[in-house]
Amino acid sequence: MKILSIETSCDDTGIAVLEISKNGDFNILSNIVASQIKVHQKYGGVYPAMAKREHQKNLIPTFIKALRKSNLLKNNELKQNFDFQSLNNILEREPELYKNLVSFLKKYTKPNIDLIAVTNGPGLEPCLWVGVNFAKAISFAWNIPVVPANHIEGHILVNLLNPKPYTLNPTLFPAIALVVSGGHTQIILVKKIGSYKILGETRDDAAGECFDKCAKILGLGYPGGPIIAKMAEKVGGMSDVPPLPRPMINTKDYDFSFSGLKTAVLYADRKVDPSTRLRASYKRKMSAEVQQAIIDVLIKKTIKAVKDFKVKSLILGGGVSANQELKKQFQLEIEKNKLKVKLIYPAPNLSTDNGAMIAVAGFYHLPAGRQVKKLANWKKINANGNLRID
Ligand code: KG4
Ligand code: ZN
Repeated sequence: MKILSIETSCDDTGIAVLEISKNGDFNILSNIVASQIKVHQKYGGVYPAMAKREHQKNLIPTFIKALRKSNLLKNNELKQNFDFQSLNNILEREPELYKNLVSFLKKYTKPNIDLIAVTNGPGLEPCLWVGVNFAKAISFAWNIPVVPANHIEGHILVNLLNPKPYTLNPTLFPAIALVVSGGHTQIILVKKIGSYKILGETRDDAAGECFDKCAKILGLGYPGGPIIAKMAEKVGGMSDVPPLPRPMINTKDYDFSFSGLKTAVLYADRKVDPSTRLRASYKRKMSAEVQQAIIDVLIKKTIKAVKDFKVKSLILGGGVSANQELKKQFQLEIEKNKLKVKLIYPAPNLSTDNGAMIAVAGFYHLPAGRQVKKLANWKKINANGNLRID
């Protein structure tokens, strides 16, 4: 079976094609991501209206690249006709995308795809709708069923693609998942695939958002996570930066709060004289301290959940799980506590938003027996910015 997946929940336009064999092995045929980093860079964050426009522009070119890489892009020699009026109605709010899709449909023929999976939440709702409406339009045009997928579940289940040969390992569950991205910070109890309970989450900023905001204050650029990580690598001694707080590190729940950290960075920044503030050595030390403060809180709360629920594995996911130091320190903490838990995290390109993660989540939401033909009508799929996993 081949799944085409669409991800537009934030600032990355992701399209992937995965082939799933009868025994459940996944094979990534293509996983193309069009990043909007350049567009949002000057603002130090994502602007939803602008992100929506970029998705409209990027979807068809990304789609073409993904199909071509999967060897599924074929010219429309049959000159198949479409009900363009209905397609126009589906894409009423995405006129640019409609125009691009019409040219695409006239040029290329229906690819050999069995199912479409699309992110329907959580995320930025205007962005989610672009992906959902695109999925509905191609589903209608080519008569291919669609299944909605939860973005957070995608960040967890993408771990089933890693390591090769992409086989599901049933001994992983129950597990604790830490999903840390630009929009989310959640500790989730995964009883098995499809059965989740959010144990705790951030009460304000997400961990990735904290990286991004602190980087902006330090004048380091966007997205902040990878830049701060790089700066922190080159740090010398830590003596002349003030220690930052570790918000909520000792509370008995599994919740987080990161907004105070950026305020602390701002105050620290104001206290030092301007010449120090501009020095690379100061920025490196602050970067290392910001990174460590975030890591300390994430590790303390997540390891507490691992112990409390006596799980078999600890699964990381989301953009921040690309952070080397976070992964290294989690492993050390597991060893220090002599925990019999397996640490699992995605390859860096599967940590950040991508289409492949949505194909996996979509696949596991097919009805028992994986009968794609029995799926609900595509008209009923809605985007929901606040969609929960539990
Ligand atoms: O999962 P993701 O691609 O998008 C969302 O769903 O939000 O995560 C993006 C976030 C950004 O905040 C970015 O700064 C952060 O992940 N990030 C990192 C690293 N790479 C990306 N944070 C820390 N260290 C990294 N290496
Ligand atoms: Zn994400």
